Amino acid sequence: MTSRRRLLAGGAAVAGLGVAGGAAVAATTGRDAPAPVAAAVALTTGTATVPFHGPRQAGIAEDPPAHASFVAFTLPAGADRRALARMMRLLTDDARRLTQGVPALGDTDATLAVLPARLTVTFGFGPGLYRAAGLEPPVTDLPTFKIDRLERRWSGGDLLLQICADDPLTVAHTQRMLIKDTRPFASVRWVQQGFRRSPGVQAPEHTQRNVLGQMDGTANPRGAEIEPAVWNQDGSTQLVVRRIRAEIETWDILAVADKENAVGRRLESGAPLSGTQERDEPDFAKLDASGLPAMPDFSHVTRARVTDPAMKILRRPYNYDGAPNAAGHPDSGLIFASYQRDIAQQYVPIQQRLADKDLLNEWITPIGSAVFAVPPGCDEDGWIGEQVLA
Ligand code: HEM
Repeated sequence: MTSRRRLLAGGAAVAGLGVAGGAAVAATTGRDAPAPVAAAVALTTGTATVPFHGPRQAGIAEDPPAHASFVAFTLPAGADRRALARMMRLLTDDARRLTQGVPALGDTDATLAVLPARLTVTFGFGPGLYRAAGLEPPVTDLPTFKIDRLERRWSGGDLLLQICADDPLTVAHTQRMLIKDTRPFASVRWVQQGFRRSPGVQAPEHTQRNVLGQMDGTANPRGAEIEPAVWNQDGSTQLVVRRIRAEIETWDILAVADKENAVGRRLESGAPLSGTQERDEPDFAKLDASGLPAMPDFSHVTRARVTDPAMKILRRPYNYDGAPNAAGHPDSGLIFASYQRDIAQQYVPIQQRLADKDLLNEWITPIGSAVFAVPPGCDEDGWIGEQVLA
């Protein structure tokens, strides 16, 4: 029975890939091939840690772990600076322990704290937190874009926790502990949970795919390129979180060539339509055989392109996949998170160009939006937000 089921499943997978013969699956090569060292990687996945202390918060420049929960809170009327400072001292203490595999003080499930799996907790302050503290907010809500269909249940927030780890149980436990300690100070506004490829299923240098099947992250700044795009001198940065629904039902019926034109890159290889390899620089002047630009001027990549290293954004998106509706239509999309020094200078112009003209808009709908200032990191004796709230 088992072998028959396996045979059927194998046959389906092979048919889906359009290759002949069962062995072809195991022999798959190329960008999506499994990592040969997967078993060795998996053994250290649970105990791996990311340093918590430093001039910048963790959870931004590192490769994104597989699971994330974005938790936004609303402050009560009358919240003041002293209460906010107490809250941030407490939450910093929880985060510095849990990220290192140490139970939080009063941890109700200490056994769940011992496998941090690259856990990071990143704190963001919404405009309302600054106002509550009597300060001028460094971030303001995004302007309204004509593509927006924003819902309150996914938008705004005075405080944000971005909790990431390579294990969903670690994320769940961390979320529970941090929400518990936030309760006296703020109420939960929304929670968005997302995922990327799990560690070990692909070699780390491979670009992940999103729920639309696209390679996502190819042109992201990496290594030293992150510096001018993301970090202010004081170690602060800014975060945009947009919940963007994917219109999977209509996307699914597109031909591959139409999907590629919408983005400006090949689906399989991730290469720009003007080139052959994923890492080829798109050539916007190149014409195709019919004399039209090889990179269509309405494609997502053409519209989103930024060349000045200081004006780029660092995308750190997670997929979401909620329960389908009764008709079986998926509830999927991206929790699009991006870090940049200055939202108004860097993010808004890109988003405006995409809202004005981006063929991909036919198949994506922004349904949530929030902005946060991300204060610098802290040392062993400090706490996140001390520069703002002390
Ligand atoms: C569901 C929503 C979205 C999807 C599915 C999506 C998908 C993609 C894909 C497949 C690429 C090409 C590969 C890569 O470089 O990563 C890309 C590139 C890019 N996207 Fe998006 N994206 C979405 C939303 C956004 C938003 C909201 C922004 C910013 C406002 C954005 C900014 C960019 C930028 C800056 C690039 C790199 C362009 C370049 O220089 O080549 N994307 N996106």
